This record gives sequence, C-alpha cells and structure tokens, in this order.
Amino acid sequence: MSKMKIYSGAYVILNPGSVVWVTAGDGMSDGVFTVTWNMPVRKEPAMVAIECSQNHHTYQFIRKTGEFAINVPEAKMVNAVLGCGRVSGKTGVDKFEKFGLTRDKAEKIKAPLIREAFANLECRVSQVIDMGSSALLLAQVVSTQVDEAHFVDGKLSFDNGLELLHHLTGDQFCISSKVLVGKV
Ligand SMILES: Cc1cc2nc3c(=O)[nH]c(=O)nc-3n(C[C@H](O)[C@H](O)[C@H](O)COP(=O)(O)O)c2cc1C
Repeated sequence: MSKMKIYSGAYVILNPGSVVWVTAGDGMSDGVFTVTWNMPVRKEPAMVAIECSQNHHTYQFIRKTGEFAINVPEAKMVNAVLGCGRVSGKTGVDKFEKFGLTRDKAEKIKAPLIREAFANLECRVSQVIDMGSSALLLAQVVSTQVDEAHFVDGKLSFDNGLELLHHLTGDQFCISSKVLVGKV
C-alpha cells in the first residue's frame, strides 16, 4: 500500500469509530495494544482521546515518552486486532511478530507505526485524566498518514475495498464498507 501524509482532517479517519491498535515505545523497546475506546475530540489542530488501563505493558512507554500512535486496521486484520487485545507484552511475547505486524519508523515520535494499518496518527499527550485503574489520554495529532487508495478528496473512500472494523463486545466485531448520504 502507498501512504500519503495529510495535513488536515485527521479526525475524518477516526469519525467512524473503528477499533484501533495503539503503539508506544522509547526507541529501545515498545508495545502494542488494541483500543476500542478512542475518538477525535478536536478538528484543527487535531486532537484525539483514548482510554488506557494504567496496568498495560504499553502504558509505561506512553508515560515515559508522552507519545503514542493510533494505527487503524482494515477488517481483514481482525485476528491480529483481537490478539493484541488478548495477549499482554508483559508475557515477554513480541506481539508484532506473533500477529504478523511490521514496525515502521514514525516521522515525529518514538513509537513504531504499524505498516499493515491503513492509517497512522502520531500523537503527543497533552493531558492525562486519572480515572484510577485507567487514564483518559488527550493528545495532539502531530503527523498523519493514510493509504491513498482509501482517502480521496479529504474523505474516507470505500471504492477500493476498504472495510472498517468496529468492536461490539468480547470477540465480536462488525464491519462498515458503504457510504450513505443523508438528505434533509
Ligand atoms: C477488542 C478489544 C478492545 C480493547 N479496548 C481497550 C481500550 O479501549 N482500552 C484499554 O485500555 N484496553 C483495551 N483492551 C485491552 C488491551 O488491549 C489488552 O489488555 C492488551 O493485552 C494490553 O496489552 P499490553 O499489556 O501489552 O499493553 C481491549 C481489548 C480488546 C480485545
């Protein structure tokens, strides 16, 4: 796939509410975990929010660097999405290797990007809301790249077979792959 950098409209990628992979790392070690609870919270400059258990292996890297990446999978990656959410890096397993994910270097942050994701949003944490066992992380999007086959004229395009993955509960997911245009 060929990815292009986009300079505005990162929120458009997260608007459908796909389940995502969040990656973080300090340059020597890294982690990846699956996140259902993510959302855009501001258009420009783009900001996002994710919910993260403070117990996750990957959270130590987010805390240390103040950075993470949101990597948006296509539906065909469902097993790797579930796997990264069921196995912890605390076990010593390299989840990238185990679930067939390739690390790409980010432009502005230390976290690795996932090559197989159709979009990658590089984020810097601006606020941490401590919720006890978990935290709500508000972050600025500092760089965004997206598969040019699936992002046309500033919009997600399903014309080239894009299927987005949404988490229902447990091991259940559903897919979206069609645009409906509302009329008033
Ligand atoms: C489908 C799915 C969605 C998940 N969503 C979240 C989430 O929104 N926030 C969160 O903190 N953990 C979420 N989890 C749990 C973590 O992904 C999981 O505990 C993971 O193994 C943590 O990895 P780590 O310890 O290597 O960082 C989800 C798990 C699954 C299977």
